[in-house]
Amino acid sequence: MDRPYVVLSCAVSIDGYLDDATGDRLVLSGPADLDRVDALRAACDAILVGAGTIRADDPSLVVRSAVRRARRTALGRPASPLRVTVTGRGDLDPAARFFAAGPSGALVYADSAVAARLRAVLGGAAPVIDAGTPVSFPLLLADLAGRGVARLMVEGGGAVLTQFLTLGLADELRLAIAPLFVGDPAAPRLVTAGNFPQNAGHRAVLADIGRAGDMAVLRYGLSGRFEPDWLAESGG
Ligand SMILES: NC(=O)c1ccc[n+]([C@@H]2O[C@H](COP(=O)([O-])OP(=O)(O)OC[C@H]3O[C@@H](n4cnc5c(N)ncnc54)[C@H](OP(=O)(O)O)[C@@H]3O)[C@@H](O)[C@H]2O)c1
Repeated sequence: MDRPYVVLSCAVSIDGYLDDATGDRLVLSGPADLDRVDALRAACDAILVGAGTIRADDPSLVVRSAVRRARRTALGRPASPLRVTVTGRGDLDPAARFFAAGPSGALVYADSAVAARLRAVLGGAAPVIDAGTPVSFPLLLADLAGRGVARLMVEGGGAVLTQFLTLGLADELRLAIAPLFVGDPAAPRLVTAGNFPQNAGHRAVLADIGRAGDMAVLRYGLSGRFEPDWLAESGG
């Protein structure tokens, strides 16, 4: 396994925003969509978010359903997937919920320039891996594969999603669209600028159109490694 199967997952407004620009988190997902995301989390080995999302949202990234947690532990897996982040500046708070489960639950890939300092700041909260300048996503994925991560879910934010897309390192996108508009150019979007493989004739494969409560959920295959049935096969 050279790299894990990579699933991008996010919720956006109708006009493609991940959040508004108020500083308070914009709630895009309703209960049905949160449950859908929970099932996806439970089927993965690791979940990655950028340091920007940890600072903005302080997500816990755990599997919420007791049934899904029990199903994982019965299979000898941790109750929730490994939590992974990436940082260039190394500005991470060891009190963030991302680190709540201790060193076995979280992993930080840091720019070489800050790795040693961040290791000292985080103490035992999580291992810090020196992953180059800037952090190399292929190196990160190869390292995760070496740790037994076969399926990686990437939950944002825009900077991280954009890199997985432009580097051609994403196999699948699950895009939930909330029935509201943001309409503020200062707010973060699903993608920032870049050259996307899909712009060079490699059109994504529209694999499914579903709904979760009042949200539309689109599923796209992005690479030749796309596996249409993997979630059903894993019981999700
Ligand atoms: N709607 C959704 O589904 C959803 C999901 C997640 C997040 N969001 C929203 O997205 C926004 C955050 O997005 P964002 O784009 O600002 O942040 P982000 O993608 O979560 O994180 C960006 C940060 O990750 C680090 N990073 C990314 N690539 C790197 C590389 N190659 N090397 C080193 N470090 C790298 C840098 O951290 P440093 O700054 O520490 O150097 C960078 O500033 C928030 O508003 C959040 O609410 C929405």
